[in-house]
Amino acid sequence: MDAEGLIYWPPDGGWPRRKWFADDVQGVALQSIWTDIAPVNSQAHDDTGFPTQKPEELIARLIHVSSNPSDLVLDCFIGSGTTAAVVQKLGRRWIGCDINKGAIQTTAKRLQTIIQEQIDKPVQTSLVESNDEKSPEPAQAAFTIWRVNDYDLAIQHNEAVNLACEHIGIQRSRTDAYFDGTVRKSLVKIVPFGHPLTPLDLEELKRELDARPDEDRPITLVCLGMELAAKTWIEDWNRLRKGKEAVNQISVIELRTDPKYGKFIKHEPARAKVTIARKKDQLVVEIEDVISPTILERLAQQAGLLQPKIDDWRAMVDCVMIDPAYDGKVFTVALSDVPEKKTDLVTGRYELPVSHGKTTVAVKIIDMLGEEVLVTHGLSG
Ligand SMILES: C[S@@+](CC[C@H](N)C(=O)[O-])C[C@H]1O[C@@H](n2cnc3c(N)ncnc32)[C@H](O)[C@@H]1O
Repeated sequence: MDAEGLIYWPPDGGWPRRKWFADDVQGVALQSIWTDIAPVNSQAHDDTGFPTQKPEELIARLIHVSSNPSDLVLDCFIGSGTTAAVVQKLGRRWIGCDINKGAIQTTAKRLQTIIQEQIDKPVQTSLVESNDEKSPEPAQAAFTIWRVNDYDLAIQHNEAVNLACEHIGIQRSRTDAYFDGTVRKSLVKIVPFGHPLTPLDLEELKRELDARPDEDRPITLVCLGMELAAKTWIEDWNRLRKGKEAVNQISVIELRTDPKYGKFIKHEPARAKVTIARKKDQLVVEIEDVISPTILERLAQQAGLLQPKIDDWRAMVDCVMIDPAYDGKVFTVALSDVPEKKTDLVTGRYELPVSHGKTTVAVKIIDMLGEEVLVTHGLSG
């Protein structure tokens, strides 16, 4: 065996060992528990600091076995954007969703960086299946962030209680550990805005009322929305409590659809003032101001009585992208300003080459909460 080169002699004089070559072994079919991929290490170059970030190699294995280049991959719990990152590197298209704005922001930043690298110089990714396989072409070089809800579900419970009390005119209770206050003669419970009202919440309410046999006031539940099963639960509850003497009748204010009280969760979009001009062969884009009512509102809640003041609009902006020949549908990034460190700011003034003919310039500004403002401007030929 030694003559055939099959023995390994350790240099330190240890026991000789049998060599095995990759061609000799058939390999083992992957089982349902994978232990060969290490978790993301905090020193890794792609570590985003997101607490539940998965390793790209793990997601790449799933993508390889379940899709082909240019397929569309959906991850509806995108987190730090690992699926989108891997899919972008492997030439598939992607859709990512998340309830948390921080996750959207982390994903957007991560993907902007990857796409910018792909635009600057095609990079060979280590995520392909074998060393001699080339990286597939990117399926797209841009993405858009869509806000599909009018409200910010990451809203904290205390924030929700404060807002709801103010808008509905609830008298706060500081002593009751369960109910949040009263409105007219009714006891009020505010269901945390992070989830719709469910029968579990109602069972909890029932336990609470069972423990207060003398409590005869009606109950008002304030929630963003409610599950159908909760609606049925309440109908059954109220059916058993009909008539003048009935106690603890339940009524619900669904803020998401309530025409009277629901108004305060309307979203006021971010806006920007931008000048766009052609100077000879150059396109000159200058951002003069950006206003994000959501960020200001958030700061106001944190600051309490002090009015928040932001001297420089750039402190509200995460990144800026420019498409000098926007077709109205697909935003193709020709320039992107994504500060590397969180503390760095965008530049705000940009010059880039532009064609002589008629064109539409689009400028996309993404604020610190992941909200986009798109400004377009037509230039004549
Ligand atoms: C375990 S993390 C995903 C981690 C991701 N695979 C990565 O590598 O970063 C789960 C994500 O789902 C999001 N999430 C939880 N409930 C959600 C919902 N109802 N709709 C959308 N996203 C939700 C959370 O905000 C969180 O970012």
